[in-house]
Amino acid sequence: MLTNNNVDNTTIVETLAKSFFKRSLSDLNSGYINNMTWEMQDKFLYKTIYSPLFKKYPGSPTFSRQFFKKLIELLEPEHEVHDDIYGYLCSVMDSEADQFNYCHYLIDNSLDNIVTIKETKNMVLNGTTGLRTWEAAFMLSDWALCNQDIFTNKSILELGSGVGFTGITIVKHCNVKSLVMTDFHDEVLETIHKNIHMNFSVSQDQQNNDLVVSKNRKKDIGVMKLDWNDTENLRHNLIPDVIIGADIVYDPSIFQPLINIFEVFHKRNNNVEIYIACVIRNSDTFNGFLKTLDISNFKHKELSVQRNVHIRWDENLPSWSLLRINKETFN
Ligand SMILES: C[S@@+](CC[C@H](N)C(=O)[O-])C[C@H]1O[C@@H](n2cnc3c(N)ncnc32)[C@H](O)[C@@H]1O
Repeated sequence: MLTNNNVDNTTIVETLAKSFFKRSLSDLNSGYINNMTWEMQDKFLYKTIYSPLFKKYPGSPTFSRQFFKKLIELLEPEHEVHDDIYGYLCSVMDSEADQFNYCHYLIDNSLDNIVTIKETKNMVLNGTTGLRTWEAAFMLSDWALCNQDIFTNKSILELGSGVGFTGITIVKHCNVKSLVMTDFHDEVLETIHKNIHMNFSVSQDQQNNDLVVSKNRKKDIGVMKLDWNDTENLRHNLIPDVIIGADIVYDPSIFQPLINIFEVFHKRNNNVEIYIACVIRNSDTFNGFLKTLDISNFKHKELSVQRNVHIRWDENLPSWSLLRINKETFN
């Protein structure tokens, strides 16, 4: 915990701004809040709700309400509270009914390195789990940033991308050749597309049947409909070097279809590398997936993963696994 003795004002404002973007209330309890003069409160507002990013893509009103309420509670006994802090609290209370909001994820705990995702906090919305970012997506992205060589100059295919946090983070930070995010739900696909436009300056969108390719500094970021139950219509020129997926192992009825997709791409490229990040909510389900892999002659290896190196992902995660899947036996 920071104390007010030896921390300068800029650090205090930055720490508070980071805790706001990280959606963490814990730093607010620290002793340094009593140093927050009006001027520092003003600086804090310009780093957060008045920043160009946040003005364009305001974050969760529910969290903003909790944060600003707590901030006011702690500030009031010590200082005059900035008018705009009260004003902002009133405005978010009005807009809380919205189902979607913008989440700003700090990479490397930096205010200069943020991935912004439009998503819901609901587990299921409009019949899909794909409209929010799940913990496995943070885990897979954090691991990818620790293992960038695997992605450098490679064609990446993501299965069940959801709102696109993993794909977008990998394109931003790993020097990929191309990356295609896929899903089978139309609203999810539309949301990925919007999230790509929010995070990259796209020079051009090219529609090619079921594939939309956004051009960003000569890098191609694709969004495509891909249903694991349909191996017949997979476009022939899609030959990934690396396949990734986060939190796509939860429904036993789609284990075999998913593995059929692995099979198709393995036939197209014997060296394809497959990495699947799983949250293990039920060990029978997870073991069922491993068994189905085995029956289909796929081998697997559990990779060791460090927590929270570049991205925070450990909250409330009971048990998890990052699988490397292959036809050959691992050394
Ligand atoms: C739990 S969400 C995970 C989303 C994202 N990967 C993440 O971790 O945040 C599962 C995703 O798989 C997609 N999905 C489920 N069944 C599918 C299928 N048969 N074909 C393609 N995608 C599917 C859903 O639409 C959803 O986006």
